[in-house]
Amino acid sequence: MEQQQTYNYKVVRQFAIMTVVWGIVGMLVGVIIAAQLVWPVLNFDLPWLTFSRLRPLHTNAVIFAFGGSALFATSYYIVQRTCQTRLFCDGLASFTFWGWQVVILLAAVSLPLGLTSGKEYAELEWPIDLLIAVVWVSYAVVFFGTVVKRRVKHIYVANWFFAAFIITIAVLHIVNSAAIPVTLFKSYSAYPGAMDAMVQWWYGHNAVGFFLTAAFLGMMYYFVPKQAGRPVFSYRLSVVHFWALISLYMWAGPHHLHYTALPNWVQSTGMAFSLMLLAPSWGGMINGIMTLSGAWHKLRTDPIIRFLIVALSFYGMSTFEGPMMSIKTVNALSHYTDWTIGHVHSGALGWVAMISIGSLYVLIPVLFGKDRMYSVKLIEWHFWMSTIGVVLYIVALWIAGITQGLMWRAVNPDGTLTYSFVESLVQMYPYYFVRFLGGAIFLGGMFVMAYNVWKTAAGAKPVNAAIPQVAAH
Ligand code: HEM
Ligand code: HEM
Repeated sequence: MEQQQTYNYKVVRQFAIMTVVWGIVGMLVGVIIAAQLVWPVLNFDLPWLTFSRLRPLHTNAVIFAFGGSALFATSYYIVQRTCQTRLFCDGLASFTFWGWQVVILLAAVSLPLGLTSGKEYAELEWPIDLLIAVVWVSYAVVFFGTVVKRRVKHIYVANWFFAAFIITIAVLHIVNSAAIPVTLFKSYSAYPGAMDAMVQWWYGHNAVGFFLTAAFLGMMYYFVPKQAGRPVFSYRLSVVHFWALISLYMWAGPHHLHYTALPNWVQSTGMAFSLMLLAPSWGGMINGIMTLSGAWHKLRTDPIIRFLIVALSFYGMSTFEGPMMSIKTVNALSHYTDWTIGHVHSGALGWVAMISIGSLYVLIPVLFGKDRMYSVKLIEWHFWMSTIGVVLYIVALWIAGITQGLMWRAVNPDGTLTYSFVESLVQMYPYYFVRFLGGAIFLGGMFVMAYNVWKTAAGAKPVNAAIPQVAAH
């Protein structure tokens, strides 16, 4: 009975701590592969340390282990607080934590061993895919079960974003992972040729749209108003933002397959929807940033607000860059170059990592019964390390990407190529070094965070706040 009168913070705490741990692991692998691109000897001629095996380990660790844990933690916290009720079914919530950690460990073993389905962001082999499906459906039951037993009539907008994310990822994962197993460790996609590519990028782009965007917007819609101490700038805009974003994202996937065997009209449709996506994306960004109206001075004094607002600025920047890159003539220059990698990380480090870090700095003290983190000065340090790190990363890759694109397309008057591929590669070394440096600084910031979290949590008594007795309607 006593348990029923408190929120379930235990599972939130578990996921929050693992976010920091997996953030360090995933970014460390990122720094290692960035270093391998500068000093190839760093693969030590060991198959499981080669770039090709560590790269999917990096993407899986940062997106699903780091990003995923951050989303589980914040969605479980937000849905309880805004519905004023305890999470539905403690046992199932606990299963999602342990199940997700097992998935991560299986990925960390199978990917370096070279076991892969070959589909980007969906590399894990079929037995792990089945486990993911079970954990994800359990997550849906816990989340929607909590919404159903809510004690307030209204469903706060952050929950809409999480709900869309949970449903969409379930559908994407199940459809895209359809495969014919041949052994325990090997399967073949159920789809043939160009259709396989189409399904894969319908999955891939919506993984960006719903995992890396919509869900983190849910986080944003709770923690920005919370930390700013002000209501969302326009609640109506947040609802328009939600419907416009989820209805447009679904159709944009073909921009990953420009100039391929996909029918031309499908590529153009993908481009048109990508251009339209600029509007809701910027509507959401403006809504988030304007929430600070009347409290702008907090940007000077509060490094957590700075994390959240700078994250929104990167969200705005990457959602401007993305639609531009989806234009076929621009994509003819950017595709296959490091410009794409730069775009990915302005979204991934600038938006996803920074909004998660800012939110965790609000959340961690609450979970451990403290009124603030151990050191605000260290948050300040972390903020500058992250910002400098991400700027170095993306500026280096803009220059690298455009240089590559221009060198690859340069032709002599007689029609032969001006540069060989290796010549373009040699040009990349300085930029790859700067990217490595930027990544290492960003990773350094994560260690600062880990120390701050450790000092905040060590010796503190974990808290499970009481649920208000009179619910708001
Ligand atoms: C309006 C929003 C966006 C649009 C229209 C968009 C568009 C694009 C385009 C055109 C590409 C290049 C495809 C290619 O040439 O191969 C791309 C790649 C990518 N974008 Fe975005 N982008 C958007 C926002 C974001 C955000 C916010 C993130 C991350 C949080 C992100 C993550 C990625 C990733 C991971 C890839 C690389 C996929 C791959 O090839 O593996 N995008 N995006
Ligand atoms: C310390 C920070 C990081 C470093 C140094 C780093 C480094 C790298 C490197 C070297 C690559 C391979 C690029 C290539 O193939 O040429 C890569 C790919 C990628 N990283 Fe990171 N990364 C970091 C953080 C992150 C985070 C936090 C995320 C997501 C939340 C992320 C998502 C990705 C994705 C999606 C790709 C694949 C991009 C594509 O295929 O187009 N990275 N990263």
